[in-house]
Amino acid sequence: MLKVSDWAASQPVRPTRLAASRCLKFCEHKGVVFPGQDSQLLHSFPPGPPVPALKPGCVQVWYARWTERLADLNELAAVLAPEEQARAQRFRFERDRNRYIAGRAILRQLLSRYTGVPPAEIQLGYGHRGKPFLPACPELEFNMSDAGELLAYAFRLQMPVGIDIEVSRPQLDSTALAQRYFHPLEVRALLEEAPESRHAAFLRCWTRKEAFVKAIGEGLRFGLDRFAVPIREGEGCVLVDPSGGEPRNWKIFELRPGPNYFGAVVTREPVAGIVEWTVPRW
Ligand SMILES: CC(C)(COP(=O)(O)OP(=O)(O)OC[C@H]1O[C@@H](n2cnc3c(N)ncnc32)[C@H](O)[C@@H]1OP(=O)(O)O)[C@@H](O)C(=O)NCCC(=O)NCCS
Repeated sequence: MLKVSDWAASQPVRPTRLAASRCLKFCEHKGVVFPGQDSQLLHSFPPGPPVPALKPGCVQVWYARWTERLADLNELAAVLAPEEQARAQRFRFERDRNRYIAGRAILRQLLSRYTGVPPAEIQLGYGHRGKPFLPACPELEFNMSDAGELLAYAFRLQMPVGIDIEVSRPQLDSTALAQRYFHPLEVRALLEEAPESRHAAFLRCWTRKEAFVKAIGEGLRFGLDRFAVPIREGEGCVLVDPSGGEPRNWKIFELRPGPNYFGAVVTREPVAGIVEWTVPRW
């Protein structure tokens, strides 16, 4: 797997080209995504290599460990919008607040690298169930998730994308949770798993399902029992539930963000490929 930190190290460091206009027109220039050719260089911004080209049909996934960013937290918090800063203040637990600040700031850094707009100037919009999007550039679809110490982000052009990661928690009663939330086909498949592999199968199923309801922007209110996904490793397609209607032509990619972590990306067909990188320190 290519890590962006390796990729970045091989790139000459030079100032990133920045967009002044909110009207973002993607173009590919020497293998790098830049804003429209007509954009001007107005803002100053820390130099560093831009992100690799995001080509139509490809999904780019980025991972970051928010616990490694605690020393930079003030700097990270500075790029948040006032409503994000207010939300950060409402968290009761410091750990949740720190994770949220780092998660949003890194999201802004990544969006900035894709669009050329400085992180603090990015305007986010929200769907009817709270899915963030870029009103100025809706063709850049993205989604994020966090679990344990990890943050995960997925980006794709023009097609919806959802991502979910979870950390293994063997103390959970996987069978009871599945019986409560999953489709009967999934419950049956889960009960056929050997007890020692059932928790992994449960998390594989959960992340696939949650990534789907995040891709369509509905979240858990969509109802996890309205559709079914395969629960075994290597089975990649969303099954169509006759009563659910919605999950047709969606593709699941399994992620392994790290030891004890499970994850999935769901997006619409056709998909040319998926690449995973670690977010470098910008
Ligand atoms: C979206 C949802 C599935 C996330 O669950 P989770 O396991 O707690 O969180 P994850 O770490 O996987 O993902 C959180 C991220 O998903 C994104 N997100 C939020 N709502 C989303 C939605 N409806 N669809 C897709 N993504 C969404 C956000 O970026 C969020 O990050 P944030 O905390 O920085 O805002 C869950 O919160 C949900 O079902 N939300 C919908 C709630 C709702 O119906 N709200 C209506 C009023 S807005």
